[in-house]
Amino acid sequence: MKKWMRALPIDERVDALLAEMTLPEKVGQLNQPANVSPGPDRDALAAGRIGSSLYASGALGGNVRDEGLSIRAIEQCQRIAVEESRLGIPVLFGRDVIHGHRTVFPIPLGLAAAWDAELVERLCDVAGSEALREGVAWTFAPMVDISEEPRWGRVAEGFGESPALSGRLAMAAVTGFQRHIGATAKHFVGYGLAAGGRDYESVQVGENTLRNLHLRTFKAAVDAGVLSVMASFNDIDGTPMHANRRLIREVLKQEWGFDGVVVADWSGIGQLVDHGVAADARDAARQGLLAGVDLDMASGVYLAHLESLVGDGEVPLDLLDDAVRRVLRMKFRLGLFDDPYPRTTADPIGPTAATRALAREAAVASMVLVANDGILPLSDQVESLHLTGPFVDEGEALLGTWVLDGRGADVPSPLVAFTDLLGDRLTHTDGRFSDLAAHRTRAAAVTVALLGEHPSRSGEANSVADLGLPAGQLEALKQLCGLGKPVVAVVFGGRPLDLAEVLRVASAVIVAWHPGTEAGPALADVLFGRREPSGRLPMTFPRSTGHVPSSVHARATSRVLDFTRDAWDGRYLDALTQPQLPFGYGLSYTTFRHGGPVASASEVPFGGQVEVSAQVTNTGQRAGRELVQLYLHDPVAEVTRPKLELLDWQWLDLAPGETGTAVFTIGTDAFGYFGRDLTWRVDQGLVRLITGRDATASAAVEVRIVAAGADE
Ligand code: GLC
Repeated sequence: MKKWMRALPIDERVDALLAEMTLPEKVGQLNQPANVSPGPDRDALAAGRIGSSLYASGALGGNVRDEGLSIRAIEQCQRIAVEESRLGIPVLFGRDVIHGHRTVFPIPLGLAAAWDAELVERLCDVAGSEALREGVAWTFAPMVDISEEPRWGRVAEGFGESPALSGRLAMAAVTGFQRHIGATAKHFVGYGLAAGGRDYESVQVGENTLRNLHLRTFKAAVDAGVLSVMASFNDIDGTPMHANRRLIREVLKQEWGFDGVVVADWSGIGQLVDHGVAADARDAARQGLLAGVDLDMASGVYLAHLESLVGDGEVPLDLLDDAVRRVLRMKFRLGLFDDPYPRTTADPIGPTAATRALAREAAVASMVLVANDGILPLSDQVESLHLTGPFVDEGEALLGTWVLDGRGADVPSPLVAFTDLLGDRLTHTDGRFSDLAAHRTRAAAVTVALLGEHPSRSGEANSVADLGLPAGQLEALKQLCGLGKPVVAVVFGGRPLDLAEVLRVASAVIVAWHPGTEAGPALADVLFGRREPSGRLPMTFPRSTGHVPSSVHARATSRVLDFTRDAWDGRYLDALTQPQLPFGYGLSYTTFRHGGPVASASEVPFGGQVEVSAQVTNTGQRAGRELVQLYLHDPVAEVTRPKLELLDWQWLDLAPGETGTAVFTIGTDAFGYFGRDLTWRVDQGLVRLITGRDATASAAVEVRIVAAGADE
């Protein structure tokens, strides 16, 4: 890169470089093999045939640990590419830094339970900074798939079922990561609708639902400036996403103006053959490039076939050039041409006091108290406490899925944290429940049972057919709860589980997800009241597996279903329909009373704003945090609308007896949706604005949207 070019605007530098490139060099930029190393890949690197590489343990990277990053190998590969290839184009190194790098934060579904975009931005900033120091310039996160399907293992990686919540957290994650490294909005699109919750399964969905639900979080990420988008493994109504020109080239790139890189998911282009839509690898490469997938992750079909496809006129050169431009543009935007080498070659970094404090803050904020007969908070003067269950002395298992560079050894386990607090007043039984556990439960003032899923049951290719607790846990819990002493159940996991029986027998229940590096101390903080539980469910917990799908954005139907009360409604003969725990649900150690919403005006002109406020009083004896949620119900629209659609939320910190007011300023665009013709619209007419503590909220105020100037 000539020195004078450094001062040019990025796109001029891209065009100048592109003009110098041969066809093989262009194709090389679209090739992303996995785990390149300076020995076997030297020739390809020196020939400019590797534009990018990802370090991952393999096709199912989420739960298979690899041998870890080698900063030296990254630097050696980069020196070959930059100093030995003809044009010196740096390689873009990527890795799945999903919810932390060396310091691990709660799984994204747990982070969503904190309902705190600023927190997500801060921790993604830390993750990006740690990753960049080890040579990673690009992460394949945030995952922003909307899903109402808890059987699907990958709900652990996303921000839950609400486009409003997920979209805002996606923007925060992109902003945080991209202070240091490139981010990726994935998996574009509809992956969370996989049939039966079975990973990779077919998806049947119309474009109206895609636009009103699933595309919204990707649009939010694009609006936040995300540098890349990853195509998803699924088809949409018969067209695999890696061949989906309509959604990738026409919607994402043309309609939205996305000028970043669309990267394939692992071998997704080559797998068009497995989908049965491509006759062979060459045909798959043709379809992938025409659809707008710019970078071929791991399948190799672009490197093998694009030159001949261009030569034979089956792939227009201008489309190939556009893909190369996007890859070069991303490298310029990341500063790789100016600063291509890893910032540090020192020993691997680890959590610091500051990053641990943030991990602990995030883990506390993620935990959701879903039941409490008054046993919580525990007193740290408690005379004796029995800790039991399969997670008592666990570290690694509390990091969660998609942790490639965090270490279990860095995690103070619950046993360590509780011992620090209680000393010899603590007894514990490891592993499975046992007669000893029963004995120690009888002997202790209170028992804390650590239940739930190991991370190997969540994440990619880890879907389940039954949302119940893993085998044996519920039976053992019932035994312990039958001994006449209070038992607090802490449920770790990567998805909404069937907690009906746990809620019936335990004195208190906390949903703790997989909390990350500070799992033990954070759990102690919450159980002993050093920090208030404030998490709120980002996904509906269905009453049973048979109730799936069950979510806040269920659309109005010909028969009204009243979610605000447990009443028979004819949907099932053998069960109530209402969720076990609704979206947005969560308790505190104090209590709150919500006043109804008040609107600043009964009419709002198109383009105008209306203020909606709601008072909340802390009616308990302890200070606490309450989340006021604002929902929209649109009673008449051109398409069926969600009975409740989350619009916004606001935290109120209230002292005992204190009354606070949540104030929302809503523009009429918030009431918009995609109509039958798939265009965006805001209707005149009545909308109902509802505020409350979760998706059973019903206190509403009506506002009429009127033509601008109507009231003059
Ligand atoms: C995996 C996942 C994707 C991940 C990629 C690289 O199969 O689907 O989320 O980023 O491959 O590891």
